[in-house]
Amino acid sequence: MMPKIAPSILAADFNHLGDDILMLNESEADFIHCDVMDGHFVPNISFGIPIVKQISEITEKPLDVHLMISNPDQFIHEFAKAGASWLTVHYEACVHLHRTVGAIKEQGVKASVCLNPHTPVAVLEDIVSELDMVLLMSVNPGFGGQKFIPNTYKKVKQLRTLIQEKNAECLIEVDGGVNYDTGKLLKEAGADVLVAGTFVFGSENPKEIIQNLRDL
Ligand code: DX5
Ligand code: ZN
Repeated sequence: MMPKIAPSILAADFNHLGDDILMLNESEADFIHCDVMDGHFVPNISFGIPIVKQISEITEKPLDVHLMISNPDQFIHEFAKAGASWLTVHYEACVHLHRTVGAIKEQGVKASVCLNPHTPVAVLEDIVSELDMVLLMSVNPGFGGQKFIPNTYKKVKQLRTLIQEKNAECLIEVDGGVNYDTGKLLKEAGADVLVAGTFVFGSENPKEIIQNLRDL
């Protein structure tokens, strides 16, 4: 199966963000990945609700919003209202994860949980059947342009096994350091969705990169 591609606008040109969103409308991208950082859960600050809302006004693609924030429960309603189709919260940021996942679904938004590189897949055993997607971080969250952590391939395979065991229907998304080489191996390991920031927006021809990543 072809992987779905979710370009991360963290690597876009924020002086011309509208142009980049319109370019993505014309591309084969499946989602637009929005990296929200709060300077608390991760050591960086990116953008928040008003930007997501503005993007949603001009995009034709579903917004895949990755919340790298502490206390995400506080903002679920706001991000849903701003136009998120998918909301990802971090396992490490949620004390009452089952409640948080329920709150996301109540908004009519697809629910996804993200694991940091050090968090084992096994912690999802009792929640995976409730999820629409699991996001595996293949770098430490906070910055674009980092080096891919190869242990992720093993985690993709473990997650695929867990999904099968539980008869779950969730997608496997991977985020960080995706390029043609890592993307191909991720696809072979069983990933459904590839996030790519620097590799897409650092290129002269982002649409071609998106197309090629789909065709890997
Ligand atoms: C990292 C973000 C990623 C990041 C990926 O904290 O969650 O989505 O933008 O960027 P690249 O593709 O540049 O590694
Ligand atoms: Zn992300």
